[in-house]
Amino acid sequence: METAYFNGKLLPKDEIKLSPDDRGFLFADGIYEVVRWYEGFFYDMSSHVTRLKRSLRELRINWSEADSFAAFAGNLIKMNNLENQPAMVYLQVTRGAARRSHSFPSPEVPPTVYAYAWGFMPDRNSMETGIKVMLKEDIRWSRCDIKSVALLPNTLSFQEACENGLKECIFIRNGLITEGSHSNIFFVIDNTLFTHPESNHILSGITRKNILRIAQESGIKIREEALQENRIRLIQEAFITNTSAELTPVTELGGNTIGEGVPGPVTKSIRTKFDNEIKALKG
Ligand code: PDD
Repeated sequence: METAYFNGKLLPKDEIKLSPDDRGFLFADGIYEVVRWYEGFFYDMSSHVTRLKRSLRELRINWSEADSFAAFAGNLIKMNNLENQPAMVYLQVTRGAARRSHSFPSPEVPPTVYAYAWGFMPDRNSMETGIKVMLKEDIRWSRCDIKSVALLPNTLSFQEACENGLKECIFIRNGLITEGSHSNIFFVIDNTLFTHPESNHILSGITRKNILRIAQESGIKIREEALQENRIRLIQEAFITNTSAELTPVTELGGNTIGEGVPGPVTKSIRTKFDNEIKALKG
């Protein structure tokens, strides 16, 4: 029986009951986080908690227990016997249940908090050989910096990629490449690493932040600048990052072959350094 976390308690998942008036259900009025368990530890949990608090603040959802995330996420891993395998924990916090109204519930209601854990198989083949991704106009709102559960443009776009045999959909806004439906994207041009700067048009990925740190420590030149769509032919290497894909090379972008169509040397060297960091943390 799967154990999940619901409003402060660890419960059999089947026993969890959500109100149909929950604002997460009615308005997608909530935020989420996804953390990765590496057989013994969560990768950079403190950054995930910091981002969680920021998302809550931006939506003005009051949940005072954000600091307990690491502890109950760890309990979910244990209770579901996931300690010795790659796993993920998903957390969602909504504004709670109240009669439907566009204004916030008054008086305030407690937030709804739900989390669960699952074991997963990293896509080693994609990480080794790279993926093909599509390009599409960014149809999302202007607060992509908030990790909101309102992900319809993301899911529709990713579904389109899947139906075309592609592994991610990368967005373009005003001629600039922003990020993927559920990842950040990096480019290498003349040994310089490019990625979109932190802004309201991208989610500030925890993996993005750590890859930038690793690249910087390796002496790689970094430019946090958005790349123009019309400069795609200059790209020599590309990769996406997120909590589950870690760093996955991109070999084709919107029908354009990147470099030689195989993962390039800068990508591979950052990937190796990331792997070494994980090995060192495993001890
Ligand atoms: N998504 N950009 C978007 C739009 C994302 O949804 C994600 C992560 C990222 C990368 O963030 P991080 O490195 O912190 O995982 C960037 C998660 C994995 C998801 O929605 O499941």
